[in-house]
Amino acid sequence: MSTKSLRGSKARIGAESLLQSSQKNIVLTGFMAVGKSAVGRKLALKLKLPFVDLDQAIEAREEFRVKEIFECKGEAYFRKVEKENLKEILSRDGQVIATGGGAVMDSENLHLLKQRSVLIYLIALPETLLRRLRSENQRPLLKADDRLVRVEDLLAQREKVYRQAHISIDTEHLSVDEVVERIIKAISRRSAKVV
Ligand code: S3P
Repeated sequence: MSTKSLRGSKARIGAESLLQSSQKNIVLTGFMAVGKSAVGRKLALKLKLPFVDLDQAIEAREEFRVKEIFECKGEAYFRKVEKENLKEILSRDGQVIATGGGAVMDSENLHLLKQRSVLIYLIALPETLLRRLRSENQRPLLKADDRLVRVEDLLAQREKVYRQAHISIDTEHLSVDEVVERIIKAISRRSAKVV
């Protein structure tokens, strides 16, 4: 086995034992379109853990798309069901969870997330996020004449809270697989310190 793959397998064992010992979850947070769902799905596959997407859970429960919930019932209603669904999901252990980018902004959600999971903040620059968001219109919070200004403003408001995550990973210039590897290494390092 090469040094690289040996390191990889050690990292995998670390991440799995962290979850076994603490019975917690791995939760991804960060701005819209940073790649929480894509990374979460691959991370879950690699760690052989179930993957849960909070927005998808909300859509299944409400029988409406997130965009429709915002349009018909408003953001306050969305935040209420987001909180309820998050609580329910976090009552279980051993999952990889991708949250919507605003879920951590509620202080009770943040507290619960930090208690019940290893919380990971995925970072990208506003320009990168906007490039990924260019051809999509599903995110109600990004309706604006100047979307770059909107992304910059919202990110500036949220950054301080995102930074409270246990682990922050800069995803600029990284593929989804590389982000997954970074997460596994960071969790292993963290669990080595904790154990
Ligand atoms: C939101 C992010 C969205 C979704 C909703 C609100 C936010 O999820 O939950 O539109 O406040 O940042 P993604 O981060 O998966 O786009």
